[in-house]
Amino acid sequence: MSKAGALDLASGLGGKIDKTDVLSAVEQYEKYHIYYGGAEDERKANYADMVNKYYDLATSFYEFGWGESFHFAHRFKGESLRESIKRHQHFLALQLGLKPEQKVLDVGCGIGGPLREISRFSLTSITGLNNNEYQIQRGKELNHIVGVDKTCDFVKADFMKMPFPDNSYDAVYAIEATCHAPDAYGCYSEIFRVLKPGQYFAAYEWCMTDSYDPNNQEHQRIKAEIEIGDGLPDIRVTGQCIEALKKAGFKVTWSKDLAASSPVPWYLPLDKSHFSLSSFRLTAVGRFFTKNMVKVLEYVGLAPQGSQRVQDFLEKAAEGLVEGGRKEIFTPMFFFLAQKPHTESQ
Ligand SMILES: C[S@@+](CC[C@H](N)C(=O)[O-])C[C@H]1O[C@@H](n2cnc3c(N)ncnc32)[C@H](O)[C@@H]1O
Repeated sequence: MSKAGALDLASGLGGKIDKTDVLSAVEQYEKYHIYYGGAEDERKANYADMVNKYYDLATSFYEFGWGESFHFAHRFKGESLRESIKRHQHFLALQLGLKPEQKVLDVGCGIGGPLREISRFSLTSITGLNNNEYQIQRGKELNHIVGVDKTCDFVKADFMKMPFPDNSYDAVYAIEATCHAPDAYGCYSEIFRVLKPGQYFAAYEWCMTDSYDPNNQEHQRIKAEIEIGDGLPDIRVTGQCIEALKKAGFKVTWSKDLAASSPVPWYLPLDKSHFSLSSFRLTAVGRFFTKNMVKVLEYVGLAPQGSQRVQDFLEKAAEGLVEGGRKEIFTPMFFFLAQKPHTESQ
């Protein structure tokens, strides 16, 4: 079961960071970002520290608001958010052509929501790679509860230097995770190396779209809000990801920004004008309640000092994401399917 209560939120806040150090971790995290004078080079050079601090601080909020899967979804009318999230995962499995018994790698697996769903949907064995220890601990607990702990496991490592031999996986996927890489080519090259020849890599990437104008100050502000609110060193445009895939050696089978054809906008759950009882905690009213609840929990000492500051940068993320989505300058679902050729000459 996902930890969804207010006390779970308070007790998980800070992840592996000592509770007395949460406030200083928040301050250090904020300083990496443009809003606090931080620079892109510094975020890239210190990506592991920056991203790990972010997930130690934000994971219990994610679990409280989203559940076990930390991603958006392409969504049809009449479909609940949870249904659309599962269908988004099934779509990925279908595109990869997963077969029972295959060995699959989930790059940047969070607490393993997608891993549990995809492994049960396709009867595959999935390894979740994640650099965040707290998330892995949660993932192991949840795998045990649903009974996939014999077929699926977690490895704590950086996806820029994976501890796996060449040609070890039948398929690799990444859901809204490789956007944290300081450089896409370095990350995709590692994925290429560990994937067996002839096999596929599929991903949902966070990207700026072709409508993003790097000289437009409003666009720059929205991009910076998404970066601070989501632990990102920089957000690449879609074309840069395709170039990086090709440079790493992949043949790109197809790619598409699925946000462009989503009948229900992916950012709707966070939009201030939207209200939903089934995803209440994500709505503006729900976030307002959470904000006040965290304030009280911090005041009475149940949540560590600095908790409200985490909620503040997550609120910035929500605002940046909704604006970026509305203006169609940002997408969290640039999908691609790429194949590692059978031989080097192919
Ligand atoms: C937005 S979450 C998505 C998690 C998961 N794919 C899901 O959809 O639930 C991004 C994940 O990428 C992981 N991550 C970020 N940078 C990483 C790195 N350098 N190496 C391994 N994992 C990383 C984070 O720890 C986090 O689990």
